[in-house]
Parts: sequence; C-alpha cells; structure tokens
Amino acid sequence: MLEVAIIGASGYTGGELLRFLDVHSEVEVVAATSRQYADTPIRKVHPHLHDLDLKFSNKSPSDLDVDLAFTATPHGASMNIVPELVEKGVKVVDLSGDYRFDDIDIYEKWYGLKHTNPLEAVYGLPEMYRDKIKGADLVANPGCYVTGAILAGIPLVKEGLVDTIIADSKSGVSGAGINPTPATHYPNIGDNVVPYAVTNHRHMPEIQEKLAKYGDVRVSFTPHLVPVIRGIITTLHCFPLKDVTPNDVLEMYKEQYKDEPFVRVLDVGEIPRTSSVRGSNFCHIGCFEMDENGRLVVISAIDNLVKGASGVAIHNMNLMCGFPETMTLDGVGLHP
Ligand SMILES: NC(=O)c1ccc[n+]([C@@H]2O[C@H](COP(=O)([O-])OP(=O)(O)OC[C@H]3O[C@@H](n4cnc5c(N)ncnc54)[C@H](OP(=O)(O)O)[C@@H]3O)[C@@H](O)[C@H]2O)c1
Repeated sequence: MLEVAIIGASGYTGGELLRFLDVHSEVEVVAATSRQYADTPIRKVHPHLHDLDLKFSNKSPSDLDVDLAFTATPHGASMNIVPELVEKGVKVVDLSGDYRFDDIDIYEKWYGLKHTNPLEAVYGLPEMYRDKIKGADLVANPGCYVTGAILAGIPLVKEGLVDTIIADSKSGVSGAGINPTPATHYPNIGDNVVPYAVTNHRHMPEIQEKLAKYGDVRVSFTPHLVPVIRGIITTLHCFPLKDVTPNDVLEMYKEQYKDEPFVRVLDVGEIPRTSSVRGSNFCHIGCFEMDENGRLVVISAIDNLVKGASGVAIHNMNLMCGFPETMTLDGVGLHP
C-alpha cells in the first residue's frame, strides 16, 4: 500500500483528493493536514465523506512519514513545504503555481513573490509529459484554466496552423477555493457574470510558456467568473494560416488524442458543456466551426476541481508510482 499525505486537506482540492483516494485500492491516506481543523473529523468539513475514519492533523512536513504527499496549498505556501518533503525522499505532487514555470523570473513577475526555494519539477500534464512524470520525484500540477486552454490549443500550434490564439474562459466559483471573498460571495456572483484580470491573469504566461513548446504562438487570455460551482469552458478563437476545413481540424485533434484516456474529441458542431464532465477527470474538446471571416472556434470543457486539479494530481501519482494510470479516475460526468 502506498502511504499518502494530503497537505491542505480542508480545502476544495483537498476534499476532492480525499474523495478519489478513499476508493483507490493501492493507496492509504495516513495524514490529512489542516492548521485550523486539527483533531477534527474530516466529515465535519467535508460532510459528503461521512464514513471516512480520519481526523485532520496539523503535522509539519518533518513529522510526515509517507511515500507521497499532495500539497493542496496556496502558492507561496507550497514553496515552504515542498523542499523539506523532497529532501526526505517523499514524492510530491504540488497543486499550486510555485513549481510550474521553467523561468523563475516569469513566476516572480506574475505572482508578485520572491521564490525562496526553486526546485526542478516536471510539469504535470500527462498529455504533454507522461514519460517524464513516470520518473519524477516532484510534479507541478498545471493551473486549471491552463489545462483547458492548452489541451484545446496543442494541435493548432503543433501543426503550425496558427500564430495567435485568443482564449476566453468561464469558470465556476470553486476555482477560487473554500474561503469566501467579496468576488465569490453569493449575492455578488449569483445571477451575474464577471470578467476579471481581463488582460493580466497569472495563468496567461503559463498557457504561453507551455504552448510555445509546440511552436511559435502568441496567447491572449481573458477569464470570467460565472455563477456555477464547478467547471471551466474555454473558447479558443483563431484565424488559421493555412487553408483547412473543420473536418481537417477535427482529424488533427483525433490523431493527437487517440490514445489519451481522459480526452474526448467531439464531432464538428458538437459543443462541450460543463455538465458532461462535472465530477469527472475528462476533458471534452469540440466545436471546430469556422465563420465566414475564417475564424476557427475550438471549445474545451473540464471540471476545475478534477481534471483541473485533484484528478490530474492522482493521474500523476498513478504514473509516478507505476499504477494503471486511470485507476480510481474513470467515472464519467454528472449530467444534468
Ligand atoms: N480550486 C481549484 O479549482 C484549483 C484548481 C487548480 C489548482 N488549484 C490550486 O490548488 C491549491 C489549493 O486550492 P484550493 O482551491 O483547494 O484552496 P483552498 O480551498 O483555499 O484550500 C487551501 C488549503 O491549504 C491550507 N493552507 C493554507 N495556507 C497554508 C499554509 N501556509 N500552510 C499549510 N496549509 C495551508 C488550508 O487549510 P488550513 O487553513 O486549515 O490549514 C486549506 O486546507 C492552490 O494553490 C490553488 O491555486 C486550485
């Protein structure tokens, strides 16, 4: 049995890690940390996990004797937790932004923080780096918006079809974590759609850095908060540089993702929706329509808490530990 700790287990992604790992036959969660809920049963914070016989603890990294740890902690906090775990020989999957960037200057500029403990990490998107993840000790999970945008964008950039992509995303409110803020307070976001960080969201440079691995591209990104709990829809707009039909584009996507267990390519004109992937680790990619001005539209849907966070974290753990990669993750979405 693989002994696992979840650091930051009282948050939303921590709750999702607990939900999936509870039914993973190769894993035992031996520690779930929370500073504010130490000694409290898990179900007091995550009531849906009623039968989970575990309490939160406030163990520090030095007290954790485990094979693998998930750090489901905010950026800025992870960098003070991860190095000690790695030093002790614990494999780590970090869900924050602290270890995602190749270029530390980009991290410091966009996160407004000095990175005190940089380490080499593998970027944890299995569709990009499956083989590297298998041999990694530290995996940096992608940002939630980033996953939706780059899975939708990879074939376009790889085939040299575009040099500019405009990504427009709509996210459910759980993307902001468990603590309410004025932006996420119900009367402020209910019955409302709110664009934010319109030209300067910190996921933009991450989308740019990762898509640029496939070719020259310029990315612009605008997120919106919408009054749903889970899910991200990302609409990519671009003008192909080559003469292509929607069916040509569809074939590129089918080829790119033909062996991927968690990416589903829909037919031309079929539109991804959040309810098709809610609660699941799947990414749906579809639309592939072109308008009279030559604009191509590609749309992706993910659950931000699963494919965008905890599901991909477990996918990464499965790869790092030699388990079947879909283990505990193969359930479909909750529609309607
Ligand atoms: N929500 C999403 O959709 C999503 C998607 C992708 C990535 N992420 C990333 O995943 C991470 C967790 O997100 P989340 O939504 O689960 O956040 P969250 O709901 O706010 O939970 C954060 C957790 O971290 C703990 N924590 C906070 N500061 C800490 C510190 N200094 N040391 C130790 N523990 C600390 C908190 O517990 P206590 O205060 O009780 O200790 C809490 O359990 C973040 O980096 C986030 O950016 C989130």
